[in-house]
Amino acid sequence: MRALASLAAFLLAGACAREARPRFKEPIKLAGKMVAPGILNAGHVAYLQYCRACHGDKGDGKGPAAPGLRPPPRDFTQGSFKFAGVLDQKLPRDEDLVRIVRGGLHGTAMLTWDVPDQKLDEIIQYIKTLSPKWKEDDAVGDPVVPEPDPWGEARKAEAVARGKTLYHGFAQCLGCHPAYATKQEIYDASKASLGVGTTDFRDAMYLPEIKDSEYGVKILPPDFLFNTLRSINPETEGGDLYRILVAGVTGAAMPAWNPISLPNKEADIWALVYYLRSLLRMKGTPAAEKLHRKLASEPPFVPPPEAGK
Ligand code: HEC
Ligand code: HEC
Repeated sequence: MRALASLAAFLLAGACAREARPRFKEPIKLAGKMVAPGILNAGHVAYLQYCRACHGDKGDGKGPAAPGLRPPPRDFTQGSFKFAGVLDQKLPRDEDLVRIVRGGLHGTAMLTWDVPDQKLDEIIQYIKTLSPKWKEDDAVGDPVVPEPDPWGEARKAEAVARGKTLYHGFAQCLGCHPAYATKQEIYDASKASLGVGTTDFRDAMYLPEIKDSEYGVKILPPDFLFNTLRSINPETEGGDLYRILVAGVTGAAMPAWNPISLPNKEADIWALVYYLRSLLRMKGTPAAEKLHRKLASEPPFVPPPEAGK
């Protein structure tokens, strides 16, 4: 409550004390289109009202409410966005920024901000003046357009099993995220999908591995059995997961998967989606605790005789 009250105070201070003088006089070409100065000036005023408390006067993420926030508010002068959700880790389209602001980033201070549509569009145009990257041609990425799910309800169990094999084998998600399989299962998954059974396991493989990022902080990848995901809504979960896998999380170690780099292309992206959903379904249930405890207390792994040959 305290934190909320002081946040409200900051927002109000932002609204009242900061009278913004018009600063844009000419149209500017941003993300390939000319934006009129009136829109940018209005966006600046609305930005000060709604976003400044965290993202700062200069958009550098150093607003008065920012100290101590983990993850820290985005520095817009950097021109890099984790959840843009576009191809080739480029800059987000306007629709992507709307999705981020309307949906919030769960588990962070980036809540769902109730900004009127027109104001939000103005803010979005203004934010693009904060980094020169938006002036480059071709800076904005193409959307990720999911192919239809080839598995369907009838082949769900098969899809989950394929996803589990990819996660612990070919795609090596367990290098950063926790493993959710026994060492024998991981050995089998790597043998089936990579041709060689893994006998080398990272320490604390049933916990996430902390990673460096381009955002000045280290980031802990989520544990799908226990953590809230940032950019995924329960109602659009399947498409959201597909988008995250194909777009990656820019600047935060989470790679982008081009479907053509997977053995069964689109079907494998969808298999990973099915597998992740099966884990997310267990979140917060006793089954999640039970699986974690069972894996963490496994007896030492004895590699099968054929290993190493
Ligand atoms: C209470 C603090 C707070 C306020 C107010 C706030 N944000 Fe954020 N915002 C954050 C934090 C924290 C993050 C970083 C989340 C992360 O890295 O996972 C963030 C991240 C973002 C991102 C980057 C997402 C990405 O993909 O990298 C955008 C865009 C954004 N905010 C826009 C806005 C806009 C527009 C407003 C005003 C309407 C706003 N924010 C208000 C805290 C805030
Ligand atoms: C090199 C490390 C690394 C690998 C490999 C990796 N991830 Fe991630 N992943 C991360 C990090 C770090 C984050 C957290 C990003 C953040 O919240 O800022 C993340 C986040 C995610 C998210 C959540 C996105 C959100 O909106 O919160 C999903 C889903 C995900 N990873 C799935 C996978 C899957 C499936 C694989 C394998 C195909 C994989 N990851 C491989 C590091 C990795």
